[in-house]
Amino acid sequence: MATSYKDLGLANSKDLFAKAVAGGYAVPAYNFNNLEQMQAILQACVETKSPVILQVSSGARKYANATLLRNMAKGAVEYVKELGYEIPIVLHLDHGDTFEICKDCIDNGFSSVMIDGSHHSYEENVALTKKVVDYAHKHGVTVEGELGVLAGVEDDVVAEESTYTRPEEVEDFVKRTGVDSLAISIGTSHGAHKFKPEQCTKNEDGVLVPPPLKFEILEEIEKRIPGFPIVLHGSSSVPIEHVETINKNGGAIDAAIGIPEDQLRKAAKSAVCKINIDSDGRLAMTAAIRKVMAEKPDEFDPRKYLGPARDSLKELYKHKNEKVLGSAEKA
Ligand code: G3H
Ligand code: 13P
Ligand code: ZN
Repeated sequence: MATSYKDLGLANSKDLFAKAVAGGYAVPAYNFNNLEQMQAILQACVETKSPVILQVSSGARKYANATLLRNMAKGAVEYVKELGYEIPIVLHLDHGDTFEICKDCIDNGFSSVMIDGSHHSYEENVALTKKVVDYAHKHGVTVEGELGVLAGVEDDVVAEESTYTRPEEVEDFVKRTGVDSLAISIGTSHGAHKFKPEQCTKNEDGVLVPPPLKFEILEEIEKRIPGFPIVLHGSSSVPIEHVETINKNGGAIDAAIGIPEDQLRKAAKSAVCKINIDSDGRLAMTAAIRKVMAEKPDEFDPRKYLGPARDSLKELYKHKNEKVLGSAEKA
């Protein structure tokens, strides 16, 4: 039996994006795979009164089990009420790559799906995206499409090179597919190694500053589809303090460079209304866990290291909502 997201008390992304575009902020899309990540996301978003997109990749779906995930999302709706402030919650499939996985998510309580046809030819991308939109819209589910390719790893797909979105394609794509939002490629990429050190310049404090995002492409896209919701993937900033903590406590993460927060702040003020962040959460959790492991080698209660990891994640998300995305107080 199919489960509609409406029965779980979830929201689709339509109103959230309309408000975000008009209000000059972006809704956070945080990936999760487990309980502690979900607790941290919900606590942070309730405390900052931010709408939230709980984002699940197909890898996360395999890892956590689809039935458990659906029930966790249902629990999330009740949990935020318990925390004292009802924020809108979207359950979103991240980087769906086939019609079948999108359909399965739509039939199992997701309120939003991404169909990532960006690795196909333009015409194949249009056809696949339209097929998903036709099915999703019958069920009130919103759909994110993608034009342009981000470098980095998305589940089983590795792209060596990014291909920026071609502004001349966006109007046709949006019209022919009927998508509700569009992910674009303007210089972000997935993972913790978004730039090579030799691509960066050093500021006066010796900090490596990567090349700016291609805001001229974003502006051109906005001109062609004014007010249309735009999505930025690969938007982790790779906080230096977490990388240092990991490396001080037995880790070996080399030359990790992310998107500077001021670049994301600037993007969030435009038609970019959804910003995807996963790697920063992974780094924050790993740093906290490594620290406990190094400082308390006799500790073996998972709550004693997953608890601090959850606290650190929550701080990270509150910071993003308040200082980077501008979504605090918007729920
Ligand atoms: O875009 C990719 C997300 O960071 C999800 O990563 O496929 O390893 O769960 P994952
Ligand atoms: P990061 O790897 O930069 O966190 O990007 C996550 C993402 O885009 C998920 O779809
Ligand atoms: Zn992504």
